[in-house]
Amino acid sequence: MKFPHSFIEEVKYRNKIDDVVSSYVNLRRAGSNYQGLCPFHSEKTPSFTIFPNTETFHCFGCGAGGDVISFIMRAENLEYPGAVELLAKRAGLNLPDTGEKQNETQKRERFLSMNREAARFFNRMLYESHAKDAREYLTSRGLTPAAVKRFGLGYAPDSFDSLRKYMRGLGYTDDELKTMFLCGRSERTGNYYDYFRGRVMFPIIDSFGNVVAFGGRLLGDGKPKYLNSSDTPVFKKSRNLFALNFARKACAEQLILCEGYMDVIAVNMAGFPNAVATLGTALTPEQARMMAKYTKKVILAYDSDEAGVKAAKRAIPMLTEVGLEVKMLRMEGAKDPDEFIKKYGATRFKTLLDASQGRMDYLCEQVLRKYNLLLPDEKTKASAELCHVLAEVRSDVEREIYITKMAEKLSVDPRSMRNDVERQRRRAAKEETAEVRRKIVSDTLGYGDRINRDFVKNARAARAEEAILGILLLRPELLSDIRRGTIALAPTDFLTDFNRRVLEALLASDENTDLGVLASDFSPDEISRITRMQVDRAKLTKNDADVLWDHIRTLKAEAPIATTGDALADIRELINKKKK
Ligand code: UTP
Ligand code: MN
Repeated sequence: MKFPHSFIEEVKYRNKIDDVVSSYVNLRRAGSNYQGLCPFHSEKTPSFTIFPNTETFHCFGCGAGGDVISFIMRAENLEYPGAVELLAKRAGLNLPDTGEKQNETQKRERFLSMNREAARFFNRMLYESHAKDAREYLTSRGLTPAAVKRFGLGYAPDSFDSLRKYMRGLGYTDDELKTMFLCGRSERTGNYYDYFRGRVMFPIIDSFGNVVAFGGRLLGDGKPKYLNSSDTPVFKKSRNLFALNFARKACAEQLILCEGYMDVIAVNMAGFPNAVATLGTALTPEQARMMAKYTKKVILAYDSDEAGVKAAKRAIPMLTEVGLEVKMLRMEGAKDPDEFIKKYGATRFKTLLDASQGRMDYLCEQVLRKYNLLLPDEKTKASAELCHVLAEVRSDVEREIYITKMAEKLSVDPRSMRNDVERQRRRAAKEETAEVRRKIVSDTLGYGDRINRDFVKNARAARAEEAILGILLLRPELLSDIRRGTIALAPTDFLTDFNRRVLEALLASDENTDLGVLASDFSPDEISRITRMQVDRAKLTKNDADVLWDHIRTLKAEAPIATTGDALADIRELINKKKK
């Protein structure tokens, strides 16, 4: 949807970027800019920067960047119109009447009611005579009718297209069904078929109570054991948690984070409605942030196997990063919470919850149990590994407490341990900046460049193009010179497709071009890249027409020579060019 440019300007004018971002990120002043921890990737030293001069942001760590609208698109996971709408609301502006907004909302509503109808269908199927196996399966797993009802479980019949037929009857199209991952389409025959067949269905419900996706489990063995909807226009796996709709209503001071659907349901049945699970993927930073909105403490109740321990170790820093206190459930004699509760009952599970271990004790114990501390060189290894763990602790007090505790465990002088930890901390800080720098270099060189795929092929030209675009973004008045022909530059002079698209978009818009205008035509990642061009130039002192001319000349010298068919003439031309 296209908003009038003047409206976008008004929205941006009333939503200063530092003001908007400060409700997401703790910002500290750094010269004329602001810095903070990037909300789009996990980091310990702030590389996320706000430039109030240009009203833009850029993260020197992950490369995310853009204006206030792109920021909201990323932070709230919205499309362009949604982000503009949110900011307009924030500033008390009425949306211009374009009629298209109506459309977007309507489309979303339609997808959501489609999912709700499908969930109802699956649930009804569970009570049909052909679903005896499914009912028996649920009983065998100890699911009560009340739990089935509460979670809205269902059954997807083992047939080719029974859901599809039903949904078509309600007026939904094959295309819509496919978009929601309720149907797939055979490449060979072109026929549409039910995506979920012969599975117990778990609806995924968002915090507003909408059915946004499904997970389905086979009744027996087979692969894949669980099948999940992929991302759709109304669902992002990385931004949803199973059963958060119940857990958040429980208003609990802690959430129990499990690995599987079945665990969450078993924990609920044991009397704890504050359980959630990720949707078949590792925990994401977004999910950690979502949990932090509702609670202060998370108890990790992952599987007790090796994979579970590994997943826990990866989840812990993500959770602490957003300020959550992390505790570990120490489960013995069972693989997962579901199995534990079935074997030992709800009361024993409660005891387990109450006895959950602090994350530091857990991490230290994981190291200590690997080594025989009676052997000097194993003890040295244990100490080195512990220093790594301790160096990660941000709070000075907490670090000190564990240094003392671990020094005692190893019977070494706490001072030596402290020295080792501090050395490790300095090294880690250095490595992090080195890592950031490496990433910028490799991005700049265009290795693995997903945004500008032609970069490596024409690196010199692409760099000149980026300089040109960066200058034009900083000095939009130069664009009029190009439009007027005073500066001889046309999109066709650009050798890389992506940069050409950017130049075309800039030239097509009116005088006061800025990122806000581009945001509707480019993806958030593309906007990030464009912002970086601007940020890179802003660091330099000279960005005037002269510099622009220099880069245009560099670019034109890179242009491939049109071959004339006369080899000799071509070579002569090439030599001439080289001489120049
Ligand atoms: P588990 O296999 O540990 O799940 O996988 P579970 O809930 O304990 O399974 P059962 O029913 O008791 O045997 C943990 C989670 O990983 C995802 C699902 O979300 C599951 O709940 N998963 C697992 C998949 O998405 N696909 C799979 O094939 C397996
Ligand atoms: Mn299980």
